[in-house]
Amino acid sequence: MTVVRRPDEEGLRRAAEILRAGSVVAFPTETVYGLGADAFTESAVAEIYRLKQRPSWNPLIVHVADVAAARALADVWPAAADELAARFWPGPLTMVVRRARHLPGIGAANDTVAVRVPAHDVALRLLRECGLPLAAPSANRSESISPTTAEHVRRSLPDVPLILDGGPCAWGIESTVVDLTGPVPVLLRPGALGLRELRDVTGTIGLPSSATADGTARPSPGMSRRHYAPRARAVLVPDVSDLSDLPPDAGVLTHEKAPYQGGAAKLEILSADPREYAADLYAALHRLDDAGVSTILIQSPPGSEEWLAVRDRLSRATAV
Ligand code: TXA
Ligand code: MG
Repeated sequence: MTVVRRPDEEGLRRAAEILRAGSVVAFPTETVYGLGADAFTESAVAEIYRLKQRPSWNPLIVHVADVAAARALADVWPAAADELAARFWPGPLTMVVRRARHLPGIGAANDTVAVRVPAHDVALRLLRECGLPLAAPSANRSESISPTTAEHVRRSLPDVPLILDGGPCAWGIESTVVDLTGPVPVLLRPGALGLRELRDVTGTIGLPSSATADGTARPSPGMSRRHYAPRARAVLVPDVSDLSDLPPDAGVLTHEKAPYQGGAAKLEILSADPREYAADLYAALHRLDDAGVSTILIQSPPGSEEWLAVRDRLSRATAV
């Protein structure tokens, strides 16, 4: 049974106690809720994999309170990491660097570690209170929609002992993941932090082969094709304005001002601004699932770079 608590002093103290005892706690970040555990205690990390039913080959991001704590996990800390950290941490950027040799791998037989400093007061206070680097994937069952509220976590992972409720997440989409182990930074997962912002600091960013204007690259082990998926069958459509033969229990998700007049059982109209759209996307998919629709017709988002992360998530949500 889960306990949902306010992140007051007592809630944080209790959460830190659970983490130090080697168990898991769900906590808010600025992107999505994370399911945290002591990153370098094998049994604690194993509990994350068990609760999420996450494939064992998919490594976890380690959350730390500041740059010094991140460096301590790295064997090599490249200049680009310093520059990116100075500009974007705390914030929705995850950097993959070579892992310090004395540390074990986190869920994968690699020699790297993915780290980030979250920009959320509750996450930072929790990190300081427990004094541990926290491995934390999104706090949902593997492949389902990421949680942007404590209630989403409770429903997806009813066996988590404690959820700290910090309200809805501001970004609502996961961090951008960049690999800094090679000569040029490489984008592993598009996310909250835009490519343009990254390029302002690093210059070139490698987009993994077969370029990714369509957001389909997946060199990050966790970037499986079907992911972030609602229970309902989700389908991308070029235009929702003239949908005919809609099943009576279909839902529609669009992002323009009332382009759809038909009789969908449930209609979600999101902002036409990519950042606002991303912030509400997972919550909208959760609402559509809650309404019990069998199918979700999703209007394809624009092809421009600002929509890269949204297109990536939608292409995975609709993969079969
Ligand atoms: O915004 C976020 O990043 C959220 C919050 C909780 O911080 N976390 C999150 O974690 O999205 P998760 O586990 O759902 O996604 C982690 C991604 C996966 O695609 C995984 O394959 C990749 O990061 N990753 C982790 N460690 C890696 C490594 N050493 N090398 C390459 N990719 C790695
Ligand atoms: Mg996830």
